[in-house]
Amino acid sequence: MGITQLVMLLLCGLSLPFCTLSSSHSAEDKLAIARFQQYLKIATAHPNPNYKPAQEFILSQAGSVGINTQVLEFTKGKPLILLTWTGKDPSRPSILLNSHMDSVPAEADKWVHDPIGAVKDNSGNIYARGAQDDKCIGMQYLEAIKRLKSQGFQPLRTIHISYVPDEEIGGMDGSEAFVKSKEFENLHVGFVLDEGQASPNEHYRVFYADRIPWRLIIKATGAPGRGSKLYDNSALENLMKSMEVIGRFRSAQFDLVKSGMAEHGEVIAVNPVYVKAGTPTPTGFVMNLQPSEAEAGFDIRLPPTADPQLVRERISEEWAPAARNMTYELMEKGPLRDIQGHLLLTVANHSNLWWLQFEKAISAAGGKLGKPEILASTTDARFVREKGIPAFGFSPMSNTPILLHDHNEFLNEAEYLKGIKMYIAILEILSSYTETVDDIAHKDEL
Ligand SMILES: *[C@@H]1O[C@H](CO)[C@@H](O)[C@H](O)[C@H]1NC(C)=O
Ligand SMILES: *[C@@H]1O[C@H](CO)[C@@H](O)[C@H](O)[C@H]1NC(C)=O
Ligand SMILES: [Zn+2]
Repeated sequence: MGITQLVMLLLCGLSLPFCTLSSSHSAEDKLAIARFQQYLKIATAHPNPNYKPAQEFILSQAGSVGINTQVLEFTKGKPLILLTWTGKDPSRPSILLNSHMDSVPAEADKWVHDPIGAVKDNSGNIYARGAQDDKCIGMQYLEAIKRLKSQGFQPLRTIHISYVPDEEIGGMDGSEAFVKSKEFENLHVGFVLDEGQASPNEHYRVFYADRIPWRLIIKATGAPGRGSKLYDNSALENLMKSMEVIGRFRSAQFDLVKSGMAEHGEVIAVNPVYVKAGTPTPTGFVMNLQPSEAEAGFDIRLPPTADPQLVRERISEEWAPAARNMTYELMEKGPLRDIQGHLLLTVANHSNLWWLQFEKAISAAGGKLGKPEILASTTDARFVREKGIPAFGFSPMSNTPILLHDHNEFLNEAEYLKGIKMYIAILEILSSYTETVDDIAHKDEL
């Protein structure tokens, strides 16, 4: 027995809370954690995600659970793994649980443990790129199904699980291609759960919309001149005027967040990402010449509740006005409304039955939900929402620092195991409810 185990034994003898550490997990839980670590050790970080071993691992896990498997390949070398647990009534709309196999790169020298080592420290924190984003949910889905199956549970609705490639680089060859495919159509999906984010407090976070990404490039022109001369309307002066106006708008939006009047996901973010101007020399820039062209790029994120026309007008009238000799290029990456013309969001209140069941499941499993949020960035969930399918972003990680895309990304094993319990309840309840909106309205009246 090592010192650590000895200390553990003593502490466990003294007080119960210490006993939640690894030594007290059941054999089943220990295996589940080992499988999570195994998945984390598969190198699927960009720019060279190795999807083949991930595919084989998922297929072997699904095989041991005993559910149907399919591999779809919309682009060569980018497999999408689809697992299916057929329900007792496959004619009902099905449930789809989505996660992505890829992850962003990690700078190994800035980590305390190897980012693909899945090292577990003494407090049960498992370190790896993808531990939070989002290999945790990919494995939790399967563990929940494994346990439900062993209890003899049979879902009424069919449950699908998808493992998609390329989420971190936009999802064109992954989720987007899948959601637009005949194969997806045939799944008759009624509800989707996709990734969410960790919560630093005891409340789980749930996301009902993503912000829509826009890209803006503004260009200014003006007469060139000597570096020494003071004159009006140089290209850089015109660009700086725009930077000031945009900067004021940015501050006003940020003030709403700082004052607590809005969450990050509820405001319009506009951030400068590059500035390009000047006349280059082999060692730097010409210093005695004011250039005739200048440009800047911005990353803009709009909540689906924002009025896009007002933003477009602001850009053409204030941020890049022709009167200041400016032009612009605006790339709107994705619609703000679904195919039926509704705002691109999933209703997160009692008028949505799926929400009602989801809330019920989380509380049945002893979890607490925070106020539903708009995600500040984007996920693959936007593709299904565009089709009018309700989707929530949810990764059950409470009391966990938000470390996606950061150094030292980790998830605690106890939190991971708690997450499996959440999915057991979610699948049990969401796959089997038969109430309709009318039943609930009727109950409310009584
Ligand atoms: C715009 O360009 C024209 C032609 O070069 C110039 O005469 C005018 O002063 C410029 N106006 C501004 C606001 O930069
Ligand atoms: C539910 O949310 C939707 C969209 O956010 C809203 O239009 C509707 O009024 C809400 N309904 C209830 C019952 O709160
Ligand atoms: Zn992710």
